[in-house]
Amino acid sequence: MMPAIMDLPNDFIPNNGRKIPAVGLGTFQGEYGNSLVKDAIKLALAQGYRHIDGAHAYGNGKEIGEAIRESGIPRQNIFVTSKLAQIWHDPADFETALDESLKDLQLYYVDLYLMHFPHAYKAGENNKTIRHSSGNGKPVIDYDLSKRYPETWQAMEKLVASGKAHSIGLFNFNILKTKRILEIAKITPAVIQAEIHPYLPQHELHGFAAQHGVLIIAHQPLGGRPISLVRGNPDEPFPTEDQKIIDVATKCNMTPAQVCLSWAVQRGIAVVPKSINKEHMKQNLQLERLPDDLFATVDRLSLERGPLRFLGPSRHIGFDIFDEGRDQPVEDCAPWG
Ligand SMILES: NC(=O)c1ccc[n+]([C@@H]2O[C@H](COP(=O)([O-])OP(=O)(O)OC[C@H]3O[C@@H](n4cnc5c(N)ncnc54)[C@H](OP(=O)(O)O)[C@@H]3O)[C@@H](O)[C@H]2O)c1
Repeated sequence: MMPAIMDLPNDFIPNNGRKIPAVGLGTFQGEYGNSLVKDAIKLALAQGYRHIDGAHAYGNGKEIGEAIRESGIPRQNIFVTSKLAQIWHDPADFETALDESLKDLQLYYVDLYLMHFPHAYKAGENNKTIRHSSGNGKPVIDYDLSKRYPETWQAMEKLVASGKAHSIGLFNFNILKTKRILEIAKITPAVIQAEIHPYLPQHELHGFAAQHGVLIIAHQPLGGRPISLVRGNPDEPFPTEDQKIIDVATKCNMTPAQVCLSWAVQRGIAVVPKSINKEHMKQNLQLERLPDDLFATVDRLSLERGPLRFLGPSRHIGFDIFDEGRDQPVEDCAPWG
């Protein structure tokens, strides 16, 4: 069964000409673990999903690979995203990192490989996990690599030449950091994946990306469920609970989730909502163009109540990667260090 996106595109095509489905399945299960991921992906593929958004850090590559193989759908018909782990941002590690992910996935290539966050962590002794400070249990930041992310990008470019990654892109990069990448890039990022929902529309980032043919993919398109360590604004309700979104949904005979996703796709933004629920998965594929006045109601929400980020790692790492004024980290130690 193919997705039923009425009057909206089923795919987007970024600057490198490679098609990306407008709706994909998020696979980050947060604090719930990965026990349900494989069945969820099989269910999603059977319903028509053709983009699976994973990451080495989610620890579920094996489940994603098994689900893809067991689905019986030819590999080339499924768009698979993975992300470079933060412990392997050193340009010397670029090939080992993707090889590890491909081994888990049991695939020869990924369709899209993203630099998972601009900042990097030191690895533990086994070189496979994040090193944590014995004092406060926080991750040990690699400040040097966190400032040298353009070099990490240059290393990632080699993965396109090797054929192991068809497209490369960035994850949670702001405009300031993306400009630094563009200064040195031989390959312009195809994608920036960023938190986007009606409470955080990121109009500036979207406009800037569009000038370079960079597709924005929205993570947490319904608000999201980051793990508690990095959850921003934990006491705020999600956009799907907003009375104005509920009213738009009633007028359009949609659910609030469908309104949030339709609004994003209508803006030219791809989405990767996570769901393990069959009915939710189905809804999230059935999107529809919102009438202009109702689209404007959703689009204005963040102006009325102020932007809200639900993924906020600053408290956890000690600097603000989203600062558009200064390229952080600036110092070489955390405020508590
Ligand atoms: N969270 C993060 O920190 C983070 C960071 C970076 C990237 N990502 C990527 O982005 C993906 C999406 O982010 P996310 O999972 O945090 O947030 P999300 O997709 O915005 O929200 C997921 C939540 O919404 C519920 N949901 C899904 N469809 C629904 C519907 N139609 N009606 C009502 N509820 C619905 C899901 O519950 P059910 O399962 O019960 O449907 C789940 O609790 C991740 O899986 C990952 O691939 C996430």
